Amino acid sequence: MAKDGEKKTCGQVMDEWKEFFWNPRTHEFLGRTASSWGLILLFYLVFYIFLAGMFVLTMYVMLLTLDDYEPTYQDRLATPGMMIQPTGKALDITYNIEDTESWDLHVQALNIFLAPYNESEQVLNNKECTPDDYFIQADSGEIRNNPKRSCQFNRTLLGECSGLNDLYYGYNVGKPCVLIKLNRVIGMYPGKERQSPHVSCGVKTENSDLIRELQYYPANAAFNLMYFPYYGKKAQVNYSQPLVAVKFHNITFNAEINIECKINSNTIANPTSERDKFAGRVSFKLRINRKD
Ligand SMILES: *[C@@H]1O[C@H](CO)[C@@H](O)[C@H](O)[C@H]1NC(C)=O
Ligand SMILES: *[C@@H]1O[C@H](CO)[C@@H](O)[C@H](O)[C@H]1NC(C)=O
Ligand SMILES: *[C@@H]1O[C@H](CO)[C@@H](O)[C@H](O)[C@H]1NC(C)=O
Ligand SMILES: *[C@@H]1O[C@H](CO)[C@@H](O)[C@H](O)[C@H]1NC(C)=O
Repeated sequence: MAKDGEKKTCGQVMDEWKEFFWNPRTHEFLGRTASSWGLILLFYLVFYIFLAGMFVLTMYVMLLTLDDYEPTYQDRLATPGMMIQPTGKALDITYNIEDTESWDLHVQALNIFLAPYNESEQVLNNKECTPDDYFIQADSGEIRNNPKRSCQFNRTLLGECSGLNDLYYGYNVGKPCVLIKLNRVIGMYPGKERQSPHVSCGVKTENSDLIRELQYYPANAAFNLMYFPYYGKKAQVNYSQPLVAVKFHNITFNAEINIECKINSNTIANPTSERDKFAGRVSFKLRINRKD
């Protein structure tokens, strides 16, 4: 029901648009005069230059506070995390002794993980250090003492769990080895008075009879102090994390066993928080199936 009187012809609409685009009477382009356009452009130019300047300035100030070698903020790491190798499926190491493929996965994972710990590699990349003391390589003020050296961790320290004599890390005979590492925390001093932090493992909930005999490598189950403090990936390019291996010598077969390994140190806070399952400890499941 449109009223014909208000209907514009196509030509009228076109004319209106043309005039809006360029009005020769008022010399307006898109409804504004040249000086109006000029002012708007000038305003935006100044505005964006100002924004860009603000951005560059904030970035610059922030970058000034950053250190190439060390994070500026790391406050949630009072207790460092721990991890195991092999990790299995979500820290679940399950296999059947008779099924070679089921444990070969774990053996391969350990081989790959330990390759950089080969003696030849370690001798090439790292330094022989004095045990039981921190290996401190301080910067002298602004002058960086970089790159910093790292201490050798020979694979041979892992004894029967080194994979050198026993190529299957005991998995084929149901006496598996699990490697434990402490996550790297820059600038952490994990021990006092020549006492290195050490690891202890046990059954988490069930009867402790399930795992019986454990053996640690190195025998004192310690992360030697000479591997600390850690100065970061960029400063300590060849760093090898120290490891502790635990070998389960007489584990109960065909049972799922929940094992927990903890760090014991006189400077690292005891792992008490139930919220963070990986602070100062690591839990994993071990199940070895065997047909009787
Ligand atoms: C490490 O040593 C083992 C045993 O000697 C050898 O099989 C392996 O190839 C070596 N790996 C590297 C990366 O040198
Ligand atoms: C790291 O290892 C390489 C050899 O792989 C060696 O040339 C270099 O000096 C080492 N760097 C440090 C800081 O130890
Ligand atoms: C590692 O092995 C090399 C070569 O056998 C040896 O000289 C060095 O003392 C060993 N380092 C450690 C930390 O055991
Ligand atoms: C393993 O533990 C069982 C139960 O305690 C014991 O009877 C057996 O002698 C142990 N085996 C070895 C090789 O220590």
